[in-house]
Amino acid sequence: MIGFCRSNCLGSTVYPAFFFADLRYDNVCDAKSCPRDDRLEVDQFIDHINKFENWFRKLNEQTAHQRDVETTEGNVSSCTQAFNERHQQLTILIEKKLEQYSDFGGGCPKDLKAAIRHSLLAPAKRLRPTLVLLAAEACGGDVADAMPAACAVEMIHTYSLIHDDLPAMDDDDLRRGLPSCHAKFGEAVAILAGDALLAQAFEVISRDTSPSEVAVKCCVELSTTAGALHLVGGQADDLDAEQRDDLAGSDLERIHRRKTGAMIISSLRMGAFVANADAGMLEKLTIFGENIGLAFQIVDDLLDFSGDQTKIGKSLGKDSQSEKLTYVKLYGLDESKRKADKLIDDAIESLKDFGTNGHPLIGLAQFILNRTY
Ligand code: IPE
Ligand code: IPE
Ligand code: MG
Ligand code: MG
Ligand code: MG
Repeated sequence: MIGFCRSNCLGSTVYPAFFFADLRYDNVCDAKSCPRDDRLEVDQFIDHINKFENWFRKLNEQTAHQRDVETTEGNVSSCTQAFNERHQQLTILIEKKLEQYSDFGGGCPKDLKAAIRHSLLAPAKRLRPTLVLLAAEACGGDVADAMPAACAVEMIHTYSLIHDDLPAMDDDDLRRGLPSCHAKFGEAVAILAGDALLAQAFEVISRDTSPSEVAVKCCVELSTTAGALHLVGGQADDLDAEQRDDLAGSDLERIHRRKTGAMIISSLRMGAFVANADAGMLEKLTIFGENIGLAFQIVDDLLDFSGDQTKIGKSLGKDSQSEKLTYVKLYGLDESKRKADKLIDDAIESLKDFGTNGHPLIGLAQFILNRTY
């Protein structure tokens, strides 16, 4: 039996004292000082129970909500911190290795080598190689084992930027805060620098990744993604979409997923391959990549419209000048931002089983959304 004492003999501070009694109502309040008259009748007692239940349920809901808010805020800042710290450390390792890979000894023509190093070693976020390394770590793997694949994806990404900036494509003179490759070295050398980086990516993975079965898996992944079905196909779609007004949101999403999203997904998958991740982890990282990959290009469209050129290191306003099909053009700023927000929420959700191992990747997803460069 459950009972209340009106005199609050038990001294509860949150609600009239209540407690469980296993005997009769008479035994409900056993405080010596309680005057017998203050003990409640059964119907009053039931009424109090109901009120108490309501009050307790509300208190529980409020506490749970408060706990959720605190946990989410705590996680958000700890994931951001985990990403910032790891990103800084990994960037140093990635850039050191890229420097070695682009040394070539004396065998490479001087101008070609200078053009490759100008673009490859220019200040950049190194997000794709960082994704390879963080995915490997999230799956229990080692950074050193994943480094060749990480450098390879940055080589392909850099080649795609060199070619993307060419006059025949986006015609951009500024890249990574420096003159774009063709602006400094001329179109022919820039095309060749891109070609060389594309080839070197597969040299590096196949020679420096072990065991060889993993190297083959990474080569298949990256070559498929860099090719006609994905990156190059997406770039072709992107040019084709210029000045067209008969394309819908689904066309735009397809272009963005092909030209940008696919390389981001493959970066994560190569990290998982190197770490011998199981099928479940691979699947979750792939879903994570699909969401952050699309969000990344939506934010790129937003920054082209409203970013700060000194921070971003490339010319802005180019998309509207060339009448590109972008998220900003199709949906406007607010709706584009909402779409990116939703994608990042979904991405974070897909990593929940990774626990703290996934925190730097969650921080990276938040960085993608909030970045200004
Ligand atoms: C720019 O990529 C090209 C896009 C796919 C939008 P990043 O914004 O990652 O450029 P870097 O590597 O930091 O220069
Ligand atoms: C480039 O997209 C995507 C690739 C290089 C594959 P954008 O043309 O939007 O990239 P930015 O804005 O020039 O960096
Ligand atoms: Mg482009
Ligand atoms: Mg461009
Ligand atoms: Mg852009």
